[in-house]
Amino acid sequence: MGVYGDQVLPRALDLWMRGADVRQVRARVAAGMTGVVLEIGFGSGLNVPHYPAGVTRVLAVDPATVGQRLAATRIAAHAVPVEFVGTDAQALPVAGATADFVLSTWTLCTIPDPGRALAEAYRVLRPGGAFHFVEHGLSPELRVARVQRRLTPLHRRVVGGCHLDRRIADLVAGAGFRVTRLENYYFHRPRAMGYTYEGVAIKPDAA
Ligand SMILES: C[S@@+](CC[C@H](N)C(=O)[O-])C[C@H]1O[C@@H](n2cnc3c(N)ncnc32)[C@H](O)[C@@H]1O
Repeated sequence: MGVYGDQVLPRALDLWMRGADVRQVRARVAAGMTGVVLEIGFGSGLNVPHYPAGVTRVLAVDPATVGQRLAATRIAAHAVPVEFVGTDAQALPVAGATADFVLSTWTLCTIPDPGRALAEAYRVLRPGGAFHFVEHGLSPELRVARVQRRLTPLHRRVVGGCHLDRRIADLVAGAGFRVTRLENYYFHRPRAMGYTYEGVAIKPDAA
């Protein structure tokens, strides 16, 4: 990725994504998780302070090694052990049915093949486990969606592969999950960058 993608962008995201409004969303999305959590796109560990007390272990996945360094203080300040287990959510080096929860915050926009990442999330979840997510993606408003489609090629280049035009709810459901909570809203302006999908999706229990 080069110096910009490897060094500059992770530090910039660490600063941009820690505001009070973002922390409120993180707390809501992390609420209710217990046991083993696998977090895809762990970044600089900005969710660590929000893991509920019932979380016993976190398996972290992210290709950005500078994020791991930025996360060190947050991890040290929290009781939950965090283990870096992989660099690519599209091919998780973890056995099936390992995790009670999978967490993803503003990550599916960046992963080259989000369908594959969601299939992997589904595989590593135990039956009855849940995928907690907040992501930005395609707006249902045609005017906004048109802008999102136009901007995405440039945005991808500037913001580490980030797509503005992914249909997140469809992708989650397409991986076999049952979506049990979904809230859509514009989080940030411009609206093309802020249309949000926040929710919970369950891997159904085996029949
Ligand atoms: C916008 S940042 C969000 C970081 C973090 N989830 C947060 O909420 O602060 C997107 C993250 O996805 C990570 N990422 C990119 N490609 C990935 C992949 N194939 N597998 C897992 N994570 C990936 C990036 O390194 C980056 O840390």
